[in-house]
Amino acid sequence: MFIPKSLSRRRAIKMTLASLVGMTTVTTKAAYQDKQIPLLFDSKRKFQVIGQASLKQRAAAKGIIYGAATGRDILVSDAEFADIFVKDCAMLVAENDLKWLALRPTPNTFDFSKGDWLAKFASKHRMLFRGTPLVWDRALPSWFKKTINSENAERLLVEHITRVTKHYAGKIYSWDVVNEAIDVKRSQRRDGLLLTPWLRFVGEDYIDLAFRTAAAADPQAILVYNDRWLDYDTPRDNAQRAAVLQLLERLKSQKTPVHALGIQAHLRAIDSQTRFHPSKLRNFLKDVASLGLKIFITELDVKDQGLPLDIAQRDRIVAAVYEDYLSTVLDEKAVIAVLTWGLSDRYTWLFQLNKRPLLYDSNFHRKSAWNAVARAFEQAPKR
Ligand code: XIL
Repeated sequence: MFIPKSLSRRRAIKMTLASLVGMTTVTTKAAYQDKQIPLLFDSKRKFQVIGQASLKQRAAAKGIIYGAATGRDILVSDAEFADIFVKDCAMLVAENDLKWLALRPTPNTFDFSKGDWLAKFASKHRMLFRGTPLVWDRALPSWFKKTINSENAERLLVEHITRVTKHYAGKIYSWDVVNEAIDVKRSQRRDGLLLTPWLRFVGEDYIDLAFRTAAAADPQAILVYNDRWLDYDTPRDNAQRAAVLQLLERLKSQKTPVHALGIQAHLRAIDSQTRFHPSKLRNFLKDVASLGLKIFITELDVKDQGLPLDIAQRDRIVAAVYEDYLSTVLDEKAVIAVLTWGLSDRYTWLFQLNKRPLLYDSNFHRKSAWNAVARAFEQAPKR
């Protein structure tokens, strides 16, 4: 069979296989891709918005909360940023200030100073406040690894969650109780649970224990299970969605007080062109909603690595990724919050060159991505 040189090896192998089974796979895939690519690269696509309303107002009109993640140090040092943040956001997410690394200088002490500052700032500007995460295997202080063992792990977990959630009870709208517990690629287990210190030393019921402890200490907060790799049509994401759904089903059947799924949604523009399968994602959201759970999009941003360097083109593609993703997920009424992981390109956790992943550029000019998010809220059905 003749295979043009320009075809990637994987694609070439696929074509060869498909020719053996009558080309059906490739035809379906190609048809699907054809639908996606012109959409994203359509240079005529406009991201017009009507009116002057802020993102939080546009979202609220549909019963949706819009917010973003940031930190105390940024808000203190950059008044212009604080200004746009307050105008657009109905929720402030503590990007790093409520992680163990920030809260736990030593095994016996808690430092709530940055978190308290954020809680106060949020309340002063009438924003909801959200914390992440109570249980994770990252952003841990250096003493953690040396200290944790099978004797003390359960006590450490319960003590941390109780202290922290009690401290913020009444001031916090929602917590990520457990973050990234599943990793189907690295896990050796059928349920996809990652072998973190929590799994190793507490056992698989650490997730249930974490939620029960949080609910007992703060009965008001919306308790979220948060995870990643849930967005695309890839073997990894498909398996991750299945494993997350299974975990949520297990928790619900045990009556664990979990209230919502958090979908991180760190999107990649390149993958969004070829590996975004709206109906698969929507079916997953429907399955999650049918368990009686709400859904938060918790860490939305668009990695623009690999896109054309031309800024106008780059921004248009990023905007298209935002609009296509959000208009898909917001069709599901269980999705009640859209939170971006930052607001301006000046402050993003992504460290590639020429990055433009957020809604404002680094000089605080609105980008097409801002309009795209606004448009998605406008198109969304009312909750
Ligand atoms: C990131 C922060 O944005 C960075 O500032 C920090 O250095 C590392 O952590 N998934 C998560 C977030 O759940 O907590 C991570 O936040 C990004 C990936």
